[in-house]
Amino acid sequence: MTVNYPRIGVIGAGAMGRGIAQIAVQAGSEVLLLDSFADAAERGREALAAQWNKLHEKGKIDAPTRDAYVARVKAVDGMQALAGCDLVVEAVVENLEVKRTLFRELEDVVAPTATLVTNTSSLSVTAIAAGLQHPARFAGFHFFNPVPLMKVVEVVAGFKTSPEVCQKLAGYATQMGHSAVQAQDTPGFIVNHAGRGYGTEALRIVGEGVADFATIDRILKDQAGFRLGPFELLDLTALDVSHPVMESIYHQYFEEPRFRPSVITAQRLAAGALGRKTGEGFYRYDNGVMQQTPEAPAPVIEGTPAVWVSPRAARRAELLRLVNTLGAQIDSGSAPAPQSIILVAPLGFDVTTVAAVERLDATRTVGIDMLIDDAATKRRVLATNPATRRDVRDAAHALFARDGKAVSVIRDSGGFVTQRVIGAIVNIAADMCQQRVCTPADLETAVQLGLGYPRGPLAMGNLYGPTNMLEVLFNLQTVYGDPRYRPSPWLRRRGALGLSLLHEEE
Ligand code: NAI
Repeated sequence: MTVNYPRIGVIGAGAMGRGIAQIAVQAGSEVLLLDSFADAAERGREALAAQWNKLHEKGKIDAPTRDAYVARVKAVDGMQALAGCDLVVEAVVENLEVKRTLFRELEDVVAPTATLVTNTSSLSVTAIAAGLQHPARFAGFHFFNPVPLMKVVEVVAGFKTSPEVCQKLAGYATQMGHSAVQAQDTPGFIVNHAGRGYGTEALRIVGEGVADFATIDRILKDQAGFRLGPFELLDLTALDVSHPVMESIYHQYFEEPRFRPSVITAQRLAAGALGRKTGEGFYRYDNGVMQQTPEAPAPVIEGTPAVWVSPRAARRAELLRLVNTLGAQIDSGSAPAPQSIILVAPLGFDVTTVAAVERLDATRTVGIDMLIDDAATKRRVLATNPATRRDVRDAAHALFARDGKAVSVIRDSGGFVTQRVIGAIVNIAADMCQQRVCTPADLETAVQLGLGYPRGPLAMGNLYGPTNMLEVLFNLQTVYGDPRYRPSPWLRRRGALGLSLLHEEE
């Protein structure tokens, strides 16, 4: 098989340029490495040689392969050396003017048929291409750090990029062992756009005093299967990287309320509590080890009051079975008896609204999140309302912890934690499909490989039910009166018709 681009240039020999050079050489290309900083290209070449040597020592590649790789990468020291390249990948500083100037100079050197690409993560591909003589051969080719391990690349079509160029780049990505996804030139492309829901919504929940960040992390890991909680993730990425991305995408989408950043991260950034790398973020780190405060044990209660379950509760039959299995008596009266715990299980609505609308005694009313099948989660989440009595809260907590399952009790919030965060993720993904940023299938691939979510956001919405997700968002919008929860038309139509969120119109 011949490689799509036998000879490529990589400009910028930093973290990204080196990674791209590595997988390009491994795919069979000859790579010319160029950097404006004296010796940087040569140091990059040496680092690559050392990397392949390490792979050889680990038994991953044999000696002839290692030597062939090393022979295929050269450090060069002037743009003129890139004259014969079929493809030039730019990975220099994230600055529009620097990139524009670089490509204008490059066009005078390479053949008009050579493909030119930028690895930018936040600048507009169209804006970088403006002023080029041949913008059709220019595209975004956005890799993730570390390049050899993050096996996805976004091929970004600018306003004038030709589809053939994108197809050939995608083919090359496959030759490099990566999955290519095709994106329109929109802020954040796919991964950084789809990733807005998780941290942003979790920060809002903390900001409202509903739960602390450690509780939110536990809930999202145990209920929805995320490998890292949103605050662990923010600590890992570091706030000096993630907060500016939040601000940038928010402004690039002209202050779209769904992407509104949080004052919490702005303040922590100002304080220098950046995360793992500074030893202090949302968590403290001692010698790189995260310090967790243990959870308080469930209260111990003598006897359990009977439980009355609202007729409108989500998964009501399942909830009744659960209460019964846990050993509480079910109050099956048409209205709750005077001593019963009143249990509600809303989707999107808060416990307060349900108590008021259903004319329940708020002092005895507690909510439980039943979006997800209880058998499929490792944690139950209860919510009180401002009037809930302490003894009722403790009795409910003790009851739901009786079989040893973890329980979190949070303050009242429409959608508890999981419904809100999953709702935000699904809604943003649905809107990306509505805007044709990419195909639903590419969105799923990009998010799973680029963000490491347990499943793609649309598959998440399908798992919990498109109609349920729509109900969550409609009701959240009512509770908060905020356009950020406005369901995307993509979700509204598919949810209303009970269609898969991956469904594309004929
Ligand atoms: P880096 O700072 O590690 O490397 C940049 C290199 O470019 C340096 O060696 C510098 O000397 C060189 N350079 C700067 N201006 C130059 C010019 N005019 N001509 C030639 N060389 C020049 O940066 P990094 O992290 O490798 O990022 C490079 C690009 O990749 C940026 O556009 C960034 O936004 C993008 N990117 C970065 C990711 C990351 O996680 N680091 C992820 C995805 C994209």
